[in-house]
Amino acid sequence: MKITYHGHSVVKIETNGKTILIDPFITGNGLTDLKVENVKPDVIIISHGHGDHVGDTVQLAKVNDSLVIANDELSTYLSWQGLRVHGMHIGGSYQFDFGRVKLTQAFHGTGLQTGDNNIVYCGMPAGILFMSEGKTIYHAGDTALFSDMKLIGERHPIDVAFLPIGDNYTMGPEDAAYAAKLLGAKTIVPMHYNTFPVIRQDPQEFIKLLEDGNGKILNPGEGIDL
Ligand code: NI
Ligand code: MN
Repeated sequence: MKITYHGHSVVKIETNGKTILIDPFITGNGLTDLKVENVKPDVIIISHGHGDHVGDTVQLAKVNDSLVIANDELSTYLSWQGLRVHGMHIGGSYQFDFGRVKLTQAFHGTGLQTGDNNIVYCGMPAGILFMSEGKTIYHAGDTALFSDMKLIGERHPIDVAFLPIGDNYTMGPEDAAYAAKLLGAKTIVPMHYNTFPVIRQDPQEFIKLLEDGNGKILNPGEGIDL
């Protein structure tokens, strides 16, 4: 299995002959190395209904006939735009042919802005557990620190955890370092930082806060072979 970071919260997983893209925010993401026309996801998983996570889902899924996995409200909304979806909800898991996906809680907001000054409610935000080839990846989505991260780590020993460190909208570095301790993941990768001025952080400083010395900074385009 290969896991590649593509800036902000964009993570690509290649396993069982499939390409899975999490939170495909490409257009408007000044940090990503991806181009919408070059990425061909078989599956898109969305943590929550915010623009910097839904991103280019509609275009990517239409062009590539990708299966879109998200919570039930967001997946229903996207199905109305012609996408092939699989709705889930927090605490539920499902065995797909490429791996098992389980949505976990996340403390955050949700909603897509429309052109006429409305916000479409998109269900509860989530974290994502992805299990394949005997390995477990945790993508925390956008979230605050919460003590049940300990429970998530106990129930599902995590090989690689992607944690937001940008602060302002999510955990900042100190809380994310505490989250890392609760999760007990083998490797911690920071995400959701430096995309916008308000979430500017130094990932090196975050890595230094990790008591277990298990942090790994991935630059956009860099990955981990599991
Ligand atoms: Ni968000
Ligand atoms: Mn976000």
